[in-house]
Amino acid sequence: MTNRGKVALVGAGPGDPELLTLRAARLIAGARLVVFDRLVGEAVLDMVPPDAMRVDVGKQTGRHSLPQDEINRLLVDLALAGHDVVRLKGGDPFIFGRGGEEAQALAAAGVPFEVVPGITAAAGCAASAGIPLTQRGVAESVRLVTGHRMDDRDLDLDWTSLADPRCTLVVYMGVASAERLAGGLRGAGLAGETPVALIERGTTPYQRTFYSTLDGLAADMAAWRPQPPSLLVIGQVVAHVTLPQLRSLVHEAAQ
Ligand SMILES: C[S@@+](CC[C@H](N)C(=O)[O-])C[C@H]1O[C@@H](n2cnc3c(N)ncnc32)[C@H](O)[C@@H]1O
Repeated sequence: MTNRGKVALVGAGPGDPELLTLRAARLIAGARLVVFDRLVGEAVLDMVPPDAMRVDVGKQTGRHSLPQDEINRLLVDLALAGHDVVRLKGGDPFIFGRGGEEAQALAAAGVPFEVVPGITAAAGCAASAGIPLTQRGVAESVRLVTGHRMDDRDLDLDWTSLADPRCTLVVYMGVASAERLAGGLRGAGLAGETPVALIERGTTPYQRTFYSTLDGLAADMAAWRPQPPSLLVIGQVVAHVTLPQLRSLVHEAAQ
């Protein structure tokens, strides 16, 4: 009987390969078989040994080139066939990454696995745009929410609890629903002048950061036409802390 392999669910971070954990970098460098998503940065994929087998299960918003249950089955089948698999996922596997479902499928099939955390887009993009997600006296908490609904239902977020002026909101997959997000938050009482940043392709050499307000967001988004992946940061920290000087210092340090 073939020995079963094991699976490492590895967070590949937001794009910059220098933001990988040491364990992720070691597992990638030693990989024989890598299963990866579309969000995994090119520079991270360049670290995979050239002779390793690569399986692209390339997910995109609203379109999964391989449905999640087939990805789960693929990981199980590969491991049961004796392969050690490095499953690379953008950001952190357990934050809007469906890593929990993959872990459950592996556990149910008796496949040994480990989870290697990654820097999630909220932390990576905010750092690289010079926006502290919490700041004493400005924002005492931060919430990570998704603007995407699996079945295209209307967003049914708890607007009253989200419309807290002392909480920073980070919205993953929020570009398509930005207008509804802004409307929901405004309707629940958050001020129209609440600052918003949109960070496109954060931590990569192509990063762009745009600034708006809840009231201006819909019109600004139409003008910016952001490319994926993009993340929204909503809250006073965007204006109070992201001073122009800080923005340029962060920019220079990254050169
Ligand atoms: C399916 S979620 C995956 C999140 C991932 N597991 C994480 O922890 O960052 C994909 C969303 O994350 C955000 N995202 C991921 N990487 C990003 C990046 N480099 N720049 C901006 N947004 C990013 C975008 O909102 C994108 O639509």
